[in-house]
Amino acid sequence: MSLSVNGQVCTLMVEPRTTLLDALREELALTGTKKGCDRGECGACTVHVDGRRVLSCMTLAGMQEGKRVITIEGLERDGELHPLQAAFIEHDGFQCGFCTSGQIMSAVAVIEEAKAGWPSAATADMRRPFTLADLSAAEIRERMSGNLCRCACYPNIVDTVAEAAGRELNLFRRAPITTNDDRRGQASKGGDE
Ligand code: FES
Ligand code: FES
Repeated sequence: MSLSVNGQVCTLMVEPRTTLLDALREELALTGTKKGCDRGECGACTVHVDGRRVLSCMTLAGMQEGKRVITIEGLERDGELHPLQAAFIEHDGFQCGFCTSGQIMSAVAVIEEAKAGWPSAATADMRRPFTLADLSAAEIRERMSGNLCRCACYPNIVDTVAEAAGRELNLFRRAPITTNDDRRGQASKGGDE
């Protein structure tokens, strides 16, 4: 079978039962994609296939013939981290880091899904199109809920995604999303007064 991985066409010989996760890690040595539960529960194995996030432990490699797969290794450009990778570092969005590549791949997709107008289970008003400006902390928590973190970095992960979304909004000269960091800053200012 052949597929594109991070922009390179790869030809693989895999057993029909081989998951995409195992093909990436064992055949292509792309070990940035992690195997946590291996049964669709933790999100550590999240990659993008044809622009959508998928759990690579839950899909067979053989089903990806001709598809375009992006892994965490494919996010940086010319040695520069993807803005979400940089934001995870800035906001301490990880401790042990085991879940982080899956978190980042999901976070990139969350912002794209919001830009595309996709609602979530946390969306209050389904009658109007969802926009990036609607990506509240509650929306981020819901949309990232498939990615578990045993180190419980959740507040920082929400801040990370909110800031990355806010930066994109600023490109369109829209108001940034308020993060937990912002709120803590405002609270401490209020305490000084
Ligand atoms: S390893 Fe795929 S969801 Fe946990
Ligand atoms: S940073 Fe350790 S599991 Fe998430």
